[in-house]
Amino acid sequence: MINLNKWVKICQIMKKIFVNGYGSIGSRITSFLKDDPEISVVGVGKYSPDEKVSIANSRGLDVYVPERKQDDFSDFKIAGTIESVLDECDLVIDAAPGGHGYKNKIHLYEPKNIPAIYQGGESIMGSEAVSDLLFNSRANYDLAIGKNHVMQGSCNVTGMGRILEPLRDKFGDNLIRFDVTLVRRWADIEQTEKKLSDTIEMTQSPHHGDDVKTYFGKDAPLFVRAIKVPTRQMHLHIMDIRFKDAAPKPSEIHEIFTNEFGVATLWTAKGTKDVRDYAQNMGFNFTDTNMIHIHANMTTSIGDTVQMMYSDDQTGIVIPENHMLLQAMLFEKSYQEAFEHTESIFHMREKKQKLQEYFGKKD
Ligand SMILES: NC(=O)c1ccc[n+]([C@@H]2O[C@H](COP(=O)([O-])OP(=O)(O)OC[C@H]3O[C@@H](n4cnc5c(N)ncnc54)[C@H](OP(=O)(O)O)[C@@H]3O)[C@@H](O)[C@H]2O)c1
Repeated sequence: MINLNKWVKICQIMKKIFVNGYGSIGSRITSFLKDDPEISVVGVGKYSPDEKVSIANSRGLDVYVPERKQDDFSDFKIAGTIESVLDECDLVIDAAPGGHGYKNKIHLYEPKNIPAIYQGGESIMGSEAVSDLLFNSRANYDLAIGKNHVMQGSCNVTGMGRILEPLRDKFGDNLIRFDVTLVRRWADIEQTEKKLSDTIEMTQSPHHGDDVKTYFGKDAPLFVRAIKVPTRQMHLHIMDIRFKDAAPKPSEIHEIFTNEFGVATLWTAKGTKDVRDYAQNMGFNFTDTNMIHIHANMTTSIGDTVQMMYSDDQTGIVIPENHMLLQAMLFEKSYQEAFEHTESIFHMREKKQKLQEYFGKKD
């Protein structure tokens, strides 16, 4: 049982967070924040009067709606308006559809002087930039300390960082060029209203390369192409890495990721759904692994080039990152402190170990 002094201390440091948007990302973030003794979730924002309002209520969450839409929600239990609840919170996690985060910043958060985290559908470039910092805990955690407006990179951008940063740490100037093809999922598992189209769609000028370069270096020799395929089961990145001299052996590449946060090395998954099914069978929250998975059986070393593939848990991967980010912004914690706290809530080491055991190399 928790003693009184400890409880008083927790209440003193507890910060209030509002999650604006309760879709794929907002519902996940909220669920994990409820396990964090340093955070109190004051409520979630909803924009459409549908069954998700009742779902949020049944999970013990107060639901807030835009002032102008209050009448639309007369059949639902609503705690108040988004405009008013913002006055009560220390930080907002914006989980709006891409582009709406910028509008919310201008019309809601800035006028009320409330710090906010934005998601990967926004931008840090151009006239609708939400911040000058795109966060990736592996690359630039310290830059977010004490900042008021920061964008969390999208799932693909976060995943690429988890591969590129450790490679650069290990091989530095021996790296000549990275060519990446992103094979993106069509929709999320719970977006049942979204139909998968029987086509392979090409993405013109994908944003991902430019986003990664904001932390990897604007002149980095990184070239990204993207296509979208009719699946709900994760993204797959196909990456070719060119070296100055002979490329390292696959085993040397895999070794780099042994102790990396949020990177599991798997040998026997035939496809992305195998990984998702395992997460579901193990009862991982939302069937997420919250990480990327190197498909080690696909790594080859040919001349000066390493070819590798890894899958990226589209919805899950950015959730622990949001948690790291809010600790930098709200509590100004060191990387190590934030990391340990995130680990105590997400249990990433344990999930990684289980995945690696189950999909381990068979002799
Ligand atoms: N899904 C992924 O795999 C993924 C991964 C990484 C990053 N992201 C990024 O995360 C963000 C959210 O994506 P998502 O997949 O969670 O979208 P989503 O499932 O479509 O959910 C969006 C939520 O935002 C609400 N909303 C609508 N208008 C809003 C507004 N003006 N302000 C605040 N909230 C509003 C919606 O409310 P109603 O339903 O009530 O209308 C809905 O609850 C996007 O920037 C996206 O690019 C998504």
